[in-house]
Amino acid sequence: MTGSRLVAVGHFQPARVVPNSELESMVDTNDEWIQRRVGIRERRWAGPDETVDVMATKAAQDVLAKAGVEAAEVDMVIVATCSALDRSPNMASRVALALGMTNHPATLDINTACSGFPHAVAIAQHAIGAGAARTALVIGAEKLSDVTDYTDRTTCVLTADGAGAFLLTADPDEHISPVLWGCVPEMGDAVRIERAEGDKFAQNGRAVFRWTTYELPQIARDVLDRAKVAPENLAAIVLHQANLRIIEPLARQIGAVNARVATDVVESGNTSAASIPLALSKMLEKEPLPSGAPILLFAFGGGLAYAGQVVLAP
Ligand SMILES: CC(C)(COP(=O)(O)OP(=O)(O)OC[C@H]1O[C@@H](n2cnc3c(N)ncnc32)[C@H](O)[C@@H]1OP(=O)(O)O)[C@@H](O)C(=O)NCCC(=O)NCCS
Repeated sequence: MTGSRLVAVGHFQPARVVPNSELESMVDTNDEWIQRRVGIRERRWAGPDETVDVMATKAAQDVLAKAGVEAAEVDMVIVATCSALDRSPNMASRVALALGMTNHPATLDINTACSGFPHAVAIAQHAIGAGAARTALVIGAEKLSDVTDYTDRTTCVLTADGAGAFLLTADPDEHISPVLWGCVPEMGDAVRIERAEGDKFAQNGRAVFRWTTYELPQIARDVLDRAKVAPENLAAIVLHQANLRIIEPLARQIGAVNARVATDVVESGNTSAASIPLALSKMLEKEPLPSGAPILLFAFGGGLAYAGQVVLAP
């Protein structure tokens, strides 16, 4: 089977920075609570014209520019999102249109909420492995501000907007480990965006937090076992950026003593399926990792679905 290689990572964030102090004027909250319980200092909110597909396209343009690859060379576009307001055409098709792709790429959206990005990476990897694609744009893009209840202090301080993208290409060697993915359907109501609740993000934060405390370390170890990577050899950990109190202990719990840990939640908030590529792109822009260095990706959220794999740095 053909392998897959991560060529580059890109991202886009709206210009509007929203500090915690701005939320203090909207709901009964305060900067101290938000920073202590979640770690968020500020987040970005998109403007009216910055829709999911527009942000996805900008992240795609960033990754293509970094990779030095033309859009016409891409034959698969996957967008992971749970906040697109339109059902058809899907976001991936709109990205293909905006990028001027006349080469008839495969275009699909996937929705596994916050865990969408590692799922999408695996789907692209499998398509490349099967010979159904050679070069894939894998994008996570969310405009959670469209699906946030700004009267609910338990959620509106968390959600944010943004996009991130990977460019994957076929390679004789495999640079991405087998995905570990799964779902705990009996916890399906722990994270919701349901029509019955006005299409607004709602969650049982304590239940998810408890799940991450008891289950996450072992699942992360299982991802590493599947990848045949020892925790001390990890160069970086990029978890779904939901809460600093979930992210920071994990590296210690799994023994990843040498890993750089992505903490972009502090300045970007929770951007659901966008959070992993966004956090990794910003981490690599600050300081690149050595090519081939193993990076653990892992996300969890609505479903309750989760997925993770190890990718080698571009
Ligand atoms: C959501 C989360 C940050 C809440 O933190 P927490 O420490 O669990 O807080 P709790 O929900 O127990 O609330 C504690 C208190 O703070 C209050 N509170 C909630 N939101 C608040 C806010 N924005 N500002 C001030 N107080 C707030 C609650 O009402 C509660 O008050 P009470 O004790 O008087 O009832 C945390 O549970 C979490 O991160 N969970 C996981 C989320 C996740 O990963 N989701 C999946 C992916 S999206």
